Amino acid sequence: MKKLYFCTNTKMSKNLAQTREYLTALREGTADLLEQGLIDLAVMPSFTALETASRVLAGSLITFGGQDVCVSDEVEYTGEVSAAMLRELGAGIVMIGHSERRRIFGEDNRSLNRKVKMTLAQGMTALLSVSETAQDKAFGVSEERLHLQLHECLDGVTDIGRIRILYEPAWAIGAAGVSADPEYAGRMHESMRRCLRQMYGEKADEIVLMYGGSVNNENAPGLLAQPQIDGLGIGRSAWNAANFEKIMRMACQ
Ligand code: 13P
Repeated sequence: MKKLYFCTNTKMSKNLAQTREYLTALREGTADLLEQGLIDLAVMPSFTALETASRVLAGSLITFGGQDVCVSDEVEYTGEVSAAMLRELGAGIVMIGHSERRRIFGEDNRSLNRKVKMTLAQGMTALLSVSETAQDKAFGVSEERLHLQLHECLDGVTDIGRIRILYEPAWAIGAAGVSADPEYAGRMHESMRRCLRQMYGEKADEIVLMYGGSVNNENAPGLLAQPQIDGLGIGRSAWNAANFEKIMRMACQ
């Protein structure tokens, strides 16, 4: 059975006590799945809770990391957090280019490319989010949009063993979203795989491709049944540890 990849980005949903309680429960609930190598699990809490995460998850197989990272490692970046600072806390992964970052903060592919490189230079995994808008979908240009993001965000990146791609259509994320139907998501993943093969040759098949956007207990199995979907990035349905564990256990059956 192939290993399934799961991640959750807790956004601004948890304070310190809630993060501690959540990660303690997740650690206990998923230990057997992780030890058997059935799943890979990454959690991205808010920056303020990273130290808590490093303490709660010490010795666990759960990876934790940042929801974002600075484009630079220079000092004069007030308010930012560098890749080296994340690494110092024991982070193993960084989420880059979430559609909320693109939409609310205007992040572009060029700056995301710098973030990917900063992350890799510190020996961490870069979880690159790529997305399409409802308008892209309506105009039928979603694949072009995704290919452009892959080309631009991964420009000059050769260390693909530590790249994961999280496809999260903007129209599917959050309370107002509806999950992509599995066939559509599967097609977009196939398209991304083709693009990555053009960029990296056969090695591209090693890159983990994940889907995110209104994943829940009902739609998770259908999404994971798509051949090119290696895992799921889950928001709201994963923020209750017991429910997240349930989704992962169901997927491993
Ligand atoms: P939801 O699962 O709540 O739609 O959030 C997805 C997401 O943004 C994960 O990064």
